Amino acid sequence: NWTARSFIESTIEEIRTRVGNDRVICGLSGGVDSTVVATLVHEAIGDQLQCIFVDNGLLRKNEFKNVLDLYEQDLHLPVKGIDASDRFLKNLKGVVDPEEKRVIIGNTFIEVFDEEVEGNNDFKFLAQGTLYPDVIESISFKGPSATIKSHHNVGGLPEEMNLALVEPVRELFKDEVRNVGRELGIPEHFIKRHPFPGPGLGIRIISDITQDKLDLLREVDDIFISELRKKDLYDDVWQALAVLLPVQSVGVMGDERTYEFTAGLRAVTSVDGMTADWAHLPHPFLAHVSNRIINEVRGINRVVYDISSKPPSTIEWE
Ligand code: XMP
Repeated sequence: NWTARSFIESTIEEIRTRVGNDRVICGLSGGVDSTVVATLVHEAIGDQLQCIFVDNGLLRKNEFKNVLDLYEQDLHLPVKGIDASDRFLKNLKGVVDPEEKRVIIGNTFIEVFDEEVEGNNDFKFLAQGTLYPDVIESISFKGPSATIKSHHNVGGLPEEMNLALVEPVRELFKDEVRNVGRELGIPEHFIKRHPFPGPGLGIRIISDITQDKLDLLREVDDIFISELRKKDLYDDVWQALAVLLPVQSVGVMGDERTYEFTAGLRAVTSVDGMTADWAHLPHPFLAHVSNRIINEVRGINRVVYDISSKPPSTIEWE
């Protein structure tokens, strides 16, 4: 009879036995899975754990600071925040192809992470938030259907790092991980956060990535997400996101003609992200969000809402 409490107790024991007196490193993504894993490992072995949280420059508005505060102040995790945004943006300069973006973002993360590990040879283990569906997907990715999108959650770090893996939630589904997180005292607003992809806003700019575009998209995203929260719609959708389209169109602002970019909004309902329906958000809500974006975000003069379902349309645009 599975309960979050019994899972936590037996897992803590397993981690202690396996790790002994060795040190464990854990990359935090700002998501629920890695946070639950770090908290579990921390309960098991205390400060033998070292967490790393990397700012890849592709996070949401204020995300790096807010999440770091949560890790340090609420969860008391031993975490080192590393601002590597310049390095990521430099490596991504001029890149348009979505898969190429993913590879570069993944490799840059590994470089940054590797430097931390190398400076500290005493790490023996790497803790990861691999979930059961990730395990299944990575197995099926090896089949003839090949990769649709390379989610680098599984097996992302190179073997020469010589770290043994600690994957305490690899037999759990997302809702079970959320329950474990609640039981561990992780705040509810964090537990209920929508999924956010590792490559972040990088795969929501449908062209090459620049600082200016990131700044625009962060404002659009912040308006959409904060309005969903304010109108109590956030928990009704499985995931919501904004994309910056490489399309400019004509508008009028006062007596001036504008020629600016288009923002796409997408919200979906889903159980597991494998299939999804576009969320039928109330029209007055969409009208309000659209008005705010066009009035407040200089550089956007048009907003469209994505009404495609998965399949065939994936949740992300890239
Ligand atoms: P798609 O777009 O494939 O997305 O329908 C399904 C879910 O996976 C997330 N996603 C990613 N997560 N790295 C990640 O960690 C990725 O490269 C990636 N691509 C998509 C997406 O946000 C959605 O929740």
